[in-house]
Amino acid sequence: MEYAIEVNNLVKRYKDMLALDHFNMSVKEGEVFGLLGPNGSGKTTTINCILSLLSYDKGDIKVFGKKMTSGSYDLKRDIGVVMQNVAVFDELNVYDNIDYFCGLYIKDKKLRAGYVEEAMEFVDIADYRKFVPKKLSGGLLRRLNIACGIAHKPKLIFFDEPTVAVDPQSRNNILEGIKKLNREGATIVYTSHYMEEVEQLCDRILIMDKGKSVALGTKEELKRMIKNTETITVEIADVTEELLTSIKAVPHVYDVVMRDESVKVYFSGGSHNIIRLMELLKDRDITYGRVYTELPTLNDVFLEITGKELRD
Ligand SMILES: Nc1ncnc2c1ncn2[C@@H]1O[C@H](COP(=O)(O)OP(=O)(O)OP(=O)(O)O)[C@@H](O)[C@H]1O
Ligand SMILES: [Mg+2]
Repeated sequence: MEYAIEVNNLVKRYKDMLALDHFNMSVKEGEVFGLLGPNGSGKTTTINCILSLLSYDKGDIKVFGKKMTSGSYDLKRDIGVVMQNVAVFDELNVYDNIDYFCGLYIKDKKLRAGYVEEAMEFVDIADYRKFVPKKLSGGLLRRLNIACGIAHKPKLIFFDEPTVAVDPQSRNNILEGIKKLNREGATIVYTSHYMEEVEQLCDRILIMDKGKSVALGTKEELKRMIKNTETITVEIADVTEELLTSIKAVPHVYDVVMRDESVKVYFSGGSHNIIRLMELLKDRDITYGRVYTELPTLNDVFLEITGKELRD
């Protein structure tokens, strides 16, 4: 197995604050790896340590099998970073910004000109090439930020919450772009606290909390780690204790919660759960409104493992 990144037992403190607590993470070459965690869980700190932009207290980091240090220029050439906070030059226009960042790695002017055009094409910003950043909308600014990070054709690219405060059209453009970079061979590390994006994009997902890894796997594997397999909600106006008790006795039910004139029934395993539940209501002549079933989400995984919501 070839690893693009190996992080072992990383400890990072900001003064007294323990930001990374013996954190481990391995990213395979060619995968889209999702780093999912609530605000302040340590995602950006992890990236900055991997990039050697931050020093750390303990642990070691390898990139493409080599120890990563602040002087690893050969490795840095192969890495692209799209920072959480847009980092471009206000006084340079779109073209010159991309050209500047690409120029850190690609010295040949003619080759670079081609790369800059490709990067603009890639995020669909070529029409704005003469615009300075403050003339761009939030979504276009994010796209410029991405173009600056990827123009030199890196083999490993970090995207740190690239879709925050972005309109749906730019969001799609960004997500599709990341998939395309991956298809073309780049290994991607994607951080977010939007679990829907991470589910859609990532081959494997690491969920972190308070500087620790709390779960790792494909989205299917993560969902299999928890007890919940299905939640069925039924709108019922008048629920009696007796009804709740009989629902609790349905096979595979492990919890029943009454909320806003609805009953939420939590199942662990079993098939035909909805039919069994409907039959019970019919036998008792219970009038009910809408019925819907939901599969577990990554939020449920996080909730069950940490006891709190992943969502803001
Ligand atoms: N420069 C710093 N000095 C002191 N504390 C910091 C610094 N940078 C981050 N922290 C703290 O370290 C913890 C981890 O922060 P980090 O930015 O890595 O989290 P994150 O998962 O990227 O969060 P977000 O989703 O908000 O971007 C937080 O508690 C944060 O307040
Ligand atoms: Mg962050």
